[in-house]
Amino acid sequence: MHDDTEVAVLRLGHRPGRDDRMTTHVGLTARALGADRVLFPDNAGQSLETVADITDRFGGPFEAELIEGPQGIIRNWEGKVVHLTMYGERVQDVADDIRAAHADAGESLLLVVGSEKVPFDVYEEADWNVGVTNQPHSEVAGLAVFLDRLFEGRELEREWVDADRHVIPMETGKRVEATEDESASDAE
Ligand SMILES: C[S@@+](CC[C@H](N)C(=O)[O-])C[C@H]1O[C@@H](n2cnc3c(N)ncnc32)[C@H](O)[C@@H]1O
Repeated sequence: MHDDTEVAVLRLGHRPGRDDRMTTHVGLTARALGADRVLFPDNAGQSLETVADITDRFGGPFEAELIEGPQGIIRNWEGKVVHLTMYGERVQDVADDIRAAHADAGESLLLVVGSEKVPFDVYEEADWNVGVTNQPHSEVAGLAVFLDRLFEGRELEREWVDADRHVIPMETGKRVEATEDESASDAE
């Protein structure tokens, strides 16, 4: 939770229309893979609603917020800032140091992912600029791999709180059960 040590994801920049799905998927990926909170630009209200709705239905804890002045948040972050960029140091070389800062030294992490061109200030203000490969790909893919490296796979075992439904893993087919009354239903 963010009154203690946390992992927060900052989506830097959002082009309404063009980025709607990507921004939403940054939030959903942050939630599913163990971050505590996502910070969206203030023009990404639609993504906030989708992430909040998924959290209501499938559980948390997870918070999504709209923010103004993302560069001020980066500058004033109390903890360490990790900027994901294809130009950065290799994730396999720096993940241990970042994990130690978070898990051992108790530093909150702000993980910054871009959309369009990222201002150079962000590269300078980050404690680590990290490349998930040094090839161009996607903020969603970069975030997913980074979180899995940070948590070393433990995020996959996470229990969800206050879910009103959960998925029953199946070899074939789709099954969702209500958490409260255990009544079963087929997924849509
Ligand atoms: C589509 S890219 C655009 C990047 C943009 N050309 C720039 O100057 O930063 C959007 C975001 O995806 C993430 N990203 C893309 N490739 C990455 C990689 N290889 N490693 C880490 N993050 C990456 C970065 O956060 C980047 O800001």
